Amino acid sequence: MKKDVLRAFFLTVSLAIPALPVSAQIQTELMVTGKDAAARIAWWRDAKFGLFMHWGVYSIPGRGEWVQWQEQIPVNEYAKLADQFHPSNFDPDSWAATAKAAGMKYTVLTARHHDGFALFDDPGSSFTAVKSAAHRDFVADYVKAVRKAGLRVGLYYSPLDWRYPGFFFPGIYQASAEELRAQYHRQLDELASHYGKLDILWFDGGGDGWLGFGGVGFTDAWHARPMNQRYHGKFDWQDDAAVNHLRQLQPTIITNDRTDAPADFKSREGDAALGDFDSDDPWELCTTLTEGAWGYQPNAKLKSRDEIIRLLVSAVGRDGNLLLNVGPRPDGQIDPAHAARLGEVGEWLGKYGQSIYATRGGPYLPGDFGVSTYRGKTIFLHIFSAQNGTLNLPALPAKILACVSLTGEQASCKQSDGGVEVTLAGNKSSPDTIVEMTLASPAAEIKTIATASTAKK
Ligand code: GLC
Repeated sequence: MKKDVLRAFFLTVSLAIPALPVSAQIQTELMVTGKDAAARIAWWRDAKFGLFMHWGVYSIPGRGEWVQWQEQIPVNEYAKLADQFHPSNFDPDSWAATAKAAGMKYTVLTARHHDGFALFDDPGSSFTAVKSAAHRDFVADYVKAVRKAGLRVGLYYSPLDWRYPGFFFPGIYQASAEELRAQYHRQLDELASHYGKLDILWFDGGGDGWLGFGGVGFTDAWHARPMNQRYHGKFDWQDDAAVNHLRQLQPTIITNDRTDAPADFKSREGDAALGDFDSDDPWELCTTLTEGAWGYQPNAKLKSRDEIIRLLVSAVGRDGNLLLNVGPRPDGQIDPAHAARLGEVGEWLGKYGQSIYATRGGPYLPGDFGVSTYRGKTIFLHIFSAQNGTLNLPALPAKILACVSLTGEQASCKQSDGGVEVTLAGNKSSPDTIVEMTLASPAAEIKTIATASTAKK
């Protein structure tokens, strides 16, 4: 291929980089159905909050997990990072302790990201932590530690692999694409066979949305496919076969919707994708604790405690989960400042967790006031903003027996046919004033109720 043609391709791709992870993620609408499906995911719906960890050889340069692509680092050169990857402070027990202290109930670790480096042993690949400097199966140690801590265990896995020309041009480099697919099926099998029970397989980059980013047409130049279009070539990941096999080996595992196989839950990515209330399909917002990439970046700006709490409450009030990411350092340690920030969130959850865990979103839909959650005969109003201490909500078709603030204010509720007026006196607590309303009947019997919302969609 001519040099200027290649340059044009990379220019198109690299200009598009910031948007690629989000907008290229065209997800399947196919969800698993049936009684088993609901039973399988019940624990996860109650859990609400999980820790995502992006960690691999890309943690060494510290410029994010897309560093190879963004800086166009040749595959052979990038591979040398594995020689330096021997983390001296890898301690998965402390990862699990950090997650627990944050009030999280599950964790998801990048078993293999788009660069192809596996944190586990794969007999078919030499680009693994076991066959390089570390000589260690990090997935094995991680699974053991997380399980021991009483948390649910998740693994992230990306079928795509930048080392394979077949990923970029599956049409031309057919054999390479087939090898890539064989690696995907084999590695999934490895993960599902050797580490005991897994609770979550968190896919990324699979399905038709991501394939063939090397170009789909040739007129006078290669054209990278526009981000919002699926790949329509002949290559097929055979996701159904891969995920079915996974489910045979791990009958209770749940998966997200980043393959073309039916999924247990949907994935939304980034703070801006918080989106609408949805109580039909289970869903999860994943986002980062720091601004920027998912993989380690020194001095990345930390989000505030209040920002994170609002995000969590906003997701739960929309009937979703929050998977919050940290990028451990190359030496394996989670930055102490990050762990401390997570601990602050955990402290808040220690006090108010009853309004979060094992609740469902609603019945009041999210609006200017904030969100609501419920469990049994209790509704929790999570008030982010009340005009002069008064909140007027639409009528509630259930009798309110009692109304109390959990966060220290004096709360009173006046119920009439026209609505519910909540009055708050005393200092309003940041970031969330929680009012607990006890009803005479189960809140689940109430259909969702729209509230005033001026927020732009
Ligand atoms: C993306 C990115 C990636 C990150 C993931 C998390 O799609 O490619 O780097 O792992 O999102 O959701």
